[in-house]
Amino acid sequence: MPRKDLLDIASLDREEIEHLLDQSAPFKDLFTRSVKKVPALKGKSVLMLFYEPSTRTHSSFEVAAKRLSADVTNFDVAQSSITKGESVRETIETLQAMRTDYVIVRHKASGLPGTIARLTRASVINAGDGAHAHPTQALLDAFTIKEKFPEPAGRKVLIVGDILHSRVARSTCTILKKLDVEVAYLGPGSLVPKQGADKVRRFTNYNEAMAWNPDIVYLLRVQMERQDVQYFPSLREYHKLYGITDARLEEIRKRGIYIMHPGPVNRGVELCDAVMDYERSLINDQVENGIAARMAVLYWLKPGGV
Ligand code: CP
Repeated sequence: MPRKDLLDIASLDREEIEHLLDQSAPFKDLFTRSVKKVPALKGKSVLMLFYEPSTRTHSSFEVAAKRLSADVTNFDVAQSSITKGESVRETIETLQAMRTDYVIVRHKASGLPGTIARLTRASVINAGDGAHAHPTQALLDAFTIKEKFPEPAGRKVLIVGDILHSRVARSTCTILKKLDVEVAYLGPGSLVPKQGADKVRRFTNYNEAMAWNPDIVYLLRVQMERQDVQYFPSLREYHKLYGITDARLEEIRKRGIYIMHPGPVNRGVELCDAVMDYERSLINDQVENGIAARMAVLYWLKPGGV
């Protein structure tokens, strides 16, 4: 049963997740054809409303919408009346009058996409809200993992870094747990939230975490812009304790472990340069799969209520 909006992963059930992952595969097959476009959303309009910077999510939504033949409008926040004090509500009412079918929104305030969804008949897709959720990142991550492990249940994913500020960690952990993948966190105690009801294992020591035998090491970007206080002594120290150094990469290679990262990467912090050429790095696969996963989401949602 299609939904109007995609605001988070927590509210999707396993059947819906499996459906979206299954639907991503034929969309990815399109990429190898000479004509990469299908008319599925011909005549529909997609508005990109990004209040925070983005390279991958923004461009991949734009490509996804265009490959489905939708018309895409980029709302230039820097040039809009928002800079003159217009509220988000007023902006949405203006956009509503334009009869947009889909609004893709990124904002630093957790929950804002949900507010917009209640104010408009358009389908709203959360492209990242504060430290809350990034559902399409989670879908593309799960799709990428399923390409390597078609039956991912029981596989182990170690998420490393700034869990505290990470909407990616939250959404990707949620989807993996719904697929019965085992998840553990590794990072400085100050950046790994205390054990909650989620039953995710916590490590603060790299060697102990690697002794847990992960199939995938999922590195998070250190988000300096969201850190209001200093959570670790220095970036050099972070790299030494938690980063994938050349020596650690050799060990990872010997063990056949895959590496993922949502991007953008901080070279010399989360990873050394050599990781980008590592044969089991899935970082470029994640970018490519982002288009397919987002096509599946756009195709699945039904604007105007269901
Ligand atoms: N993964 C991700 O959200 O990247 P961007 O910030 O470039 O969109």
